[in-house]
Amino acid sequence: MKQTDILIIGTGIAGSIAAITAADNGNRVTVLTKTDDIVSGSTSIAQGGIIYKAPDDTPEKLAADIMTAGAGHCWEPAVMQLATLGPKLVEDLLLSRFNVDFDKTDNHLDLTAEGAHSLRRIIHCKDITGRHIIKAIHKTLVEHPNITILTNHIAIDLLTLSHHSKNSVDIYKHPACFGAIVFDANSGATFPIFAHKTILATGGLGQIFLHTTNPREATGDGIALASRAGVRCFNLEYIQFHPTAFYNEHYQQTRFLISESMRGEGGKLIDKNGNEFMQRFHHLGSLAPRDVVARSIQTVLQETSAPCVFLDITAKGEDWLQNRFPEIFTNCLQMGVNISNEPIPVIPAAHYSCGGIGVNLNGRTSFQRLYAVGEISCTGVHGANRLASTSLLEALVWGYTAGNDVCISKEDDDYFPPIYDWVSETEDMDNILMVQDWSSIKNTMWNYVGLFRTNQRLQRAIKMLTELKIEIERFYKRTKLSREIIELRNGIETAIAVTNATIASPVSRGAHYIINNE
Ligand code: SIN
Repeated sequence: MKQTDILIIGTGIAGSIAAITAADNGNRVTVLTKTDDIVSGSTSIAQGGIIYKAPDDTPEKLAADIMTAGAGHCWEPAVMQLATLGPKLVEDLLLSRFNVDFDKTDNHLDLTAEGAHSLRRIIHCKDITGRHIIKAIHKTLVEHPNITILTNHIAIDLLTLSHHSKNSVDIYKHPACFGAIVFDANSGATFPIFAHKTILATGGLGQIFLHTTNPREATGDGIALASRAGVRCFNLEYIQFHPTAFYNEHYQQTRFLISESMRGEGGKLIDKNGNEFMQRFHHLGSLAPRDVVARSIQTVLQETSAPCVFLDITAKGEDWLQNRFPEIFTNCLQMGVNISNEPIPVIPAAHYSCGGIGVNLNGRTSFQRLYAVGEISCTGVHGANRLASTSLLEALVWGYTAGNDVCISKEDDDYFPPIYDWVSETEDMDNILMVQDWSSIKNTMWNYVGLFRTNQRLQRAIKMLTELKIEIERFYKRTKLSREIIELRNGIETAIAVTNATIASPVSRGAHYIINNE
């Protein structure tokens, strides 16, 4: 029997910080990642940066910006925890302990701006901040004597008293999680990992949408695990669409991110005729909150019958751009666009889930012994629309508080009931079905649960997704397990959870926008 003190699912910044913190406190920690490299997921492709502090900054000023962007729907205690503890952890952990090589100007950390920030307070490593941060943290993660890392391992389901215990009376106890059933893609084996505490750090869900800035891994696994177990999730209707993903008519699926910090450095949004348009929609122009910019772009596209708008940063010149935004410069060049002498074609794409598994200030969920951290969680910080560059900071803060909180033991934390044996299926996967099912999920979500929602579209979406789920469950039940089939099952579960939350939320707020309400 595999047993650990703390099981952590995900190796992004949130999972890694939780793992190191819990391990520092003497726990035996097992960390899973479904990929073959621990550097994967959204952290590793984060571009813009992480909030630190401006010279004249205060927690109250940061909190005010977060709450304005969040459209009045943020949870103030969570916002204040982020605003007070966040900059301190950037200093203690990222700068002092992990020595992340943030960019400096004249020996001072270079501070950049992004949409809806009242001050320049974001630190960065050119436009590849996430990769620098995670690589620095991982040096400690892989060397820590109390941490075991299992790559190519994906959680199939959480082990819960109500669903998996052979002791039928466990159903009367407070809902609790005692680990997960895991598929090892290296060997094809399926087995339970029993854990005193489990922390979900599985990242985002952008892959349920046709167009996304998220990596291939972002299939909403954590929401699916939580939904099937009955763990409380909320705010799932607040899907943030990033205003500026690269647009190429021949490579519609290739919508890589064009960082908001490009607008922070002076880039302007223009329409196909070269006219700036954002001042018409918001006094902050191209640096308005993301939900406003994304919807404004969509409106301009309809007005001009164009497939994209443009981000013009040509004023900066080639040397400056290559130095400040090397990754974006190269990626665009590979797509045939030299950003120093022509504007970048851009369009919105699904970027971040502001909602998720509901947690308290220490990452505790509605289930005992179960935590969630990072994008998969909903701390209440982001409200209805996330302020730029808060995601890495939130993951850092909650990774840290959860990593400490798991050390508080309670009665029953070491209860591991007998469970039923896993039954393996043998039928080979039908790839055509898999591809078509994903296409149906992505198109349905993009067209009916996207930037502009209507009741009619949402009703159509839930009907189609519910029927598809029946088929996918049938397919899943008889097919030999693989990461792909597990992700598909998670994708449909998460799409339904997001759509149901959207239907249940009749009021437009932040990133959730209902056109009519008949
Ligand atoms: C960006 O660089 O535009 C993304 C930053 C974020 O999502 O906070």
